[in-house]
Amino acid sequence: MPRGGPGAYVVKKPKNLGKTVRQVFSYMTNTWKKKILLVIVFFLVIIASGSTIAATYLLTPTINLGILPVVGEPLTFDNLKPFIYYVSIMALAYIMGLISTWVYNFIMINLSAETLYTIRQDLFSAMEDLPVSYFDTHTDGDIMSRFTNDTDTLREVLSMALPQIFSSSLTILGTFSMMLFLSWQLTLIVIVMLGIMFLVIRTIGARSAKNFQEQQRRLGIVNGYIEEMITGQKVVKVFNHEHKIMDQFDEINNNLRDASTRANIYGNILMPIMGNLSYVQFAFCAGIGGWLIIIDQMTIGAIASFLQYSRNFSQPITQVSQLINQILSGLAGAERIFTFIENPKEEDEGFVELVNVERQPDGSLVETIADSQLWAWKIPQEDGSVKYNEIKGDVRFNDVSFSYDGKREVIHDISLFAKPGQKIALVGATGAGKTTITNLLNRFYEIDEGEIIYDGVNIKDIKKKDLRKSLAMVLQDTHLFTGTIADNIRYGKLDATDDEIKGAAELAHATHFINQLPDGFDTVITNDGGNLSQGQRQLLAIARAAVANPPVLVLDEATSSIDTRTEKFIEKGMDSLMLDRTVFVIAHRLSTVRNSNAILVMDQGEIIERGDHDELMKEKGRYYQLQTGQLELD
Ligand SMILES: Nc1ncnc2c1ncn2[C@@H]1O[C@H](COP(=O)(O)OP(=O)(O)OP(=O)(O)O)[C@@H](O)[C@H]1O
Ligand SMILES: [Mg+2]
Repeated sequence: MPRGGPGAYVVKKPKNLGKTVRQVFSYMTNTWKKKILLVIVFFLVIIASGSTIAATYLLTPTINLGILPVVGEPLTFDNLKPFIYYVSIMALAYIMGLISTWVYNFIMINLSAETLYTIRQDLFSAMEDLPVSYFDTHTDGDIMSRFTNDTDTLREVLSMALPQIFSSSLTILGTFSMMLFLSWQLTLIVIVMLGIMFLVIRTIGARSAKNFQEQQRRLGIVNGYIEEMITGQKVVKVFNHEHKIMDQFDEINNNLRDASTRANIYGNILMPIMGNLSYVQFAFCAGIGGWLIIIDQMTIGAIASFLQYSRNFSQPITQVSQLINQILSGLAGAERIFTFIENPKEEDEGFVELVNVERQPDGSLVETIADSQLWAWKIPQEDGSVKYNEIKGDVRFNDVSFSYDGKREVIHDISLFAKPGQKIALVGATGAGKTTITNLLNRFYEIDEGEIIYDGVNIKDIKKKDLRKSLAMVLQDTHLFTGTIADNIRYGKLDATDDEIKGAAELAHATHFINQLPDGFDTVITNDGGNLSQGQRQLLAIARAAVANPPVLVLDEATSSIDTRTEKFIEKGMDSLMLDRTVFVIAHRLSTVRNSNAILVMDQGEIIERGDHDELMKEKGRYYQLQTGQLELD
């Protein structure tokens, strides 16, 4: 069963219990405040359980010393004094128990909220540090469940189950000692009855647990199916599959109903059986207790206390077994969280940085904090000095080979170069490896062989953050974030002024449609731009790249959904923006690439032709075939 897929909610035990417990504990005690609070909780739980046990014991003197001597006597204050005294102490004990329970619950809720805040924070930052490949190999739902299910079960464990199991254990211990103290004979009866109850729980409970797991598994399948059908609703309608999926749903829903019935039948008969058994136990104790009074072995008060203890005894015992399950599955969730946090981070051994520079009259470059529109790689030298390489957009792939999975090579021994200011086009059939080239350039993935040199620096030596900053990319699948149109464009450069944003939109030829929206640049985009057309989304993505104004621009199928006229305008705007900078264009539409300086025709991870439009047409090879329509590109 894949993790996070159907059945992910089945109760599972952590693989390495000790380690997980230690990790949870270290999160709970990572500040002095938390440590002190935990110690306070520890004592409050002891006080709470202790006072309930004490209050129950106080029944004995209340009856024996407070009530029985007064029966039949004249009612005077002196006579009633012991009664009032013991009842007051009993009330006090209960109140103390109540207050401590309330306070430790209050503290635990705060403590676990605090702990989960830190865990969530670590989870999120771990996610931001993951390499792109992780997201290619894990489903969104799988990653999401760390933030939702797993943290939620852990919260319940920390805030409720943990203090509860401690207090239940104390209650069991205390109650048992008190029962033994009051009467070993009656205690024996309670233990025998408990043994019988335990056997019942084991036989019925085992079945019930199995069926409950099955119910959870099938619930997971139903939920997964619903989720998939919500996202795939349009495709379902396009192919008229409503009936078919209704039938499929009917089947899995049926399965769920059956499993749920089985699980709950066993689950539900357990409770009444246990209830009846505890009445039987009560009757036995009361009967034999009565006999013990008659033969003067016990007092009425002691029997009253004992009966109360015996009633309070089985509850925490059944509770503990439930709590243990709950805690185990909470810890299993915690283990998944910690494994996620411990995932290997995206490595970065780069030391070359991107800096703004200014050119001195003598031609040398000097670092500046101003937005000088001139960039350089700042390369620390071995002798401690620093060298600046101006970034012009000179990109070279030398004998690069790459495979995603270490088995099937998707890029074979590719060499290419882009000179500053050139527009390089990559064309080729679907799956040829065009997008892969861009993934390698921005180091979403590491190449297996060869090298990529960017303005004289091996990209392996460049800090990833800086490398990516120097490249503006319009990815094949654009993503828009919840926020306004302006916010989305500003994503390319967070400190962009409104004018810069308008300029970028102008350049991308997006102003026209933005102005038609109800709130213009302040229109809120929701659900990944579901309220915009594909072409409009691409225009925004281009504006986002344009506002970043980087030395190198990579457009992956950026204009595929844009009409040819708008595309021409964008091209003009880009040409002026990208003067002296390098552009990689990946396009299916051949008109887009016609005016490129170099066209690289890719096929199955290799570059099979290169040249400009005229040269390639003369060559009469694959490009010629593509142009003249003798070969469909897709
Ligand atoms: N994340 C990935 N993991 C494994 N294999 C991948 C991954 N992405 C792409 N591939 C494989 O690598 C090959 C090249 O894919 P790539 O996305 O580079 O093609 P492309 O030329 O951009 O195609 P298109 O024109 O459809 O965008 C394909 O065979 C594809 O199956
Ligand atoms: Mg692609």
